[in-house]
Formats: sequence, structure tokens, C-alpha cells
Amino acid sequence: MDIVQAGDPVLRRRATEVPLDALASPFVQQLIATMIQTMRAAPGVGLAAPQVGESLRIIVMEDDDETQWAAMSDARRLELGRRRLVLQVVVNPVIELLGEETEEFFEGCLSVDGYRAIVRRAARVRLAGVDEKGEPVNLELEGWPARIAQHECDHLDGLLYVDRMHSLTLTTAANLDRWWKARPAEEVRRALEAG
Ligand code: NI
Repeated sequence: MDIVQAGDPVLRRRATEVPLDALASPFVQQLIATMIQTMRAAPGVGLAAPQVGESLRIIVMEDDDETQWAAMSDARRLELGRRRLVLQVVVNPVIELLGEETEEFFEGCLSVDGYRAIVRRAARVRLAGVDEKGEPVNLELEGWPARIAQHECDHLDGLLYVDRMHSLTLTTAANLDRWWKARPAEEVRRALEAG
């Protein structure tokens, strides 16, 4: 499944709530399965339904890939506040920012292929909704998973990270990887800002 890229109006629309009596329909169940498959194939850690062309309020998130985790240094993991997140499907998600604390880190989007920039996000959130079976979901997330949840919920309101990014830090993913080989994130940021 191709991932819709920036410039397609579906990414800028407010997505529609999924009627709960439609949750069990083959259409919605197939859509959720496609989203999970597409996220894993990308690979990515989150995906919203508009990114596969459907303007519906559904997100999937997962950060539990053994290969990726094995390749990540402890320093990088701590820097990111990254922690494992088992597969979550959230239909009609409602996000609540908890507390005043914010974090700045690089993020990217499968719909803005090849770029990264620093985005300030709340450090902790509560995410509520229902899963693919209609069971209630109520998650308290912090660090990297909290960032994923905020990013994916933004998609449902027609927002992309570029609307929130610190634009001086925009970089290609390839350039960021090069910077990162040698330096911690804070130095990368200063260097990008200095031009
Ligand atoms: Ni995205």
C-alpha cells in the first residue's frame, strides 16, 4: 500500500469519527489490517488512516521491532526517551496533554518522505479511545510513545509535523544520519541553526 504524500488534500482534512456500529464491518477491519501492514513495511512507528487515503479517525502505533532495538545504542535510546510500545490500534482517539513539561526532538513522517526536523511536544499524554474490537483503550504515555501519539492524532486533524516544526532544524534524513554518527542531538541542533 502506497503512503499518501504531502500535497494530497486527504492529509489536510479533519478526519471523520468511525461510527461504533461500523467497527466490525469488513471495510474497517480490512483498513486497520492494511494500516498495520503498511506501518510495518515502511517501516514506521505510527500511521494514521488518512495516510492510506481514508479520512477516518483511526491510528496505529508500534515500536517493538527487535532489529531496530538491537541496532540502537543505549545513549540514543535515552536521548529519545524511547521505550518499547506494543501494537496499539486506537479508533476515535482523544488525546490529553498531561502537565507542562515539553521535549524537543527530531521527528519525521512517512507522508513527508526523507526529511526530519525538531518538534516540541508534551512529554506526557493520555490517549483514550477504543481498539479494533471496540474495547476501551486508556493509555498514559511518556517520552517517545507520547510523541508518536501526538503526531498521529495531529494527522486526524489535518496537521503535519511541518506545521509545528522548528523550521531552522529541517534536514534530510540522510544528512541527519551523517550528523548523528558523530554528535549528540543538542549539538546537531546548534549546528543546523547556525547554518
Ligand atoms: Ni506522520
